[in-house]
Amino acid sequence: MAGDSAIGIHDLSFATTEFVLTHTELARHNGTDIGKYHQGIGQRSMSVPATDEDIVTMGAAAAAPLIARHGGDGIRTIIFATESSIDQAKSAGVYVHSLLGLASATRVVELKQACYGATAALQFAIGLVRRDPAQRVLVVAADIAKYEPDSPGEATQGAAAVAMLIGADPALLRIEEPSGVFTADVMDFWRPNYREAALVDGQESIGAYLLAVEGSWKDYTEHGGRAPDEFAAFCYHQPFTKMAYKAHRHLLNYCGYDIDEDRVARDLGLTTAYNNVIGNSYTASLYLALAALLDQAEDLTGRAIGFLSYGSGSVAEFFAGSVVPGYREHLRTTAHRAAIDRRRPVDHARYRELHGHSFPTDGGDHRTAAETTGPFRLAALRGHKRVYESR
Ligand code: CAA
Repeated sequence: MAGDSAIGIHDLSFATTEFVLTHTELARHNGTDIGKYHQGIGQRSMSVPATDEDIVTMGAAAAAPLIARHGGDGIRTIIFATESSIDQAKSAGVYVHSLLGLASATRVVELKQACYGATAALQFAIGLVRRDPAQRVLVVAADIAKYEPDSPGEATQGAAAVAMLIGADPALLRIEEPSGVFTADVMDFWRPNYREAALVDGQESIGAYLLAVEGSWKDYTEHGGRAPDEFAAFCYHQPFTKMAYKAHRHLLNYCGYDIDEDRVARDLGLTTAYNNVIGNSYTASLYLALAALLDQAEDLTGRAIGFLSYGSGSVAEFFAGSVVPGYREHLRTTAHRAAIDRRRPVDHARYRELHGHSFPTDGGDHRTAAETTGPFRLAALRGHKRVYESR
């Protein structure tokens, strides 16, 4: 039986973009049978950032409600996880720290390993809190998933940020020991520094993900983890929601179970509600699955949830959390639904304009149009410096 730890997720909030492109609109443009998107990959729409939104504005918008509820006291570390970094040197977390008005006595750092980064941040945060239980760590996971137009990956874009407050005696979820970890050097998905859009070998990436499920689960069980039947639900990284189903069937098969589709639906059904309308949000995706589960499930008090975090390249981790009594009083279900519902639909032509937007690299004063109605905006790139504004 896995051991409990009294450190975990105290609060969780997410933000997404100003705009949304439906898969119906994408299919209308490229002639794809809509069944491929709705049933085949399990996606209905994807979040599209305005020109004045990026990982910083989304990250700050996700984190602001945590600071409003708990204050900034006790936060001595911010870990910003992303694979859509805006600077090779400066952490996006420093901008978020400034926008949120947090104390100067804070360490801030950015972490990267594809979609796995937020889980590394969570585990590192737990280590810091174990050393000093009075501290809280703000973990921000924010990404914009961008592929070439008209490529197979195009339908699996999206964007969002999740912010989590990690601390002792958490109100939502205790993260347990052990973790199962796995690394393999594969080129399934990557983005060289000179490219805006990721490169991907789609089928290879699915195979690499499944191999990582096996590897991390094997390590998890070898370190004394729970048995599959002990979990009330499983949250998977969801590049597209059908991937969670592929992964879970693979796990059950690997564990020697016959595949029972009712069981698969029970284990995963509530975890896909946010990802299937937001799209891939890379490192935030796993924690959007958790938000969807907690926001919708009847009552998970005391139940175990399994997590499979996968980051291409590749690194994976399987770990468990147990749901804290009273957690439902701390959920942000209404705000989460509002973050999704407030998005304004764009047509295909506007989406392509937004997809193609980038700043000139001449060091001039380049202002952005005021498009986002969110609490923070990227107002300009001036002298190669990003200029943010709060509302
Ligand atoms: N009605 C219903 N279903 C249909 C259909 C129709 N009319 N037409 C096709 N389908 C089904 C197919 O049968 C297939 O289902 P299965 O996977 O169950 O066989 C599904 O729709 C997708 O069809 P294809 O495999 O033909 O789709 P594709 O070749 O265009 O690409 C993809 C799909 C590989 C996922 C592509 O979107 C892609 O490259 N995405 C980016 C990479 C990615 O997300 N990889 C996931 C693992 S890597 C990872 O997790 C990290 C990360 O975040 C990137």
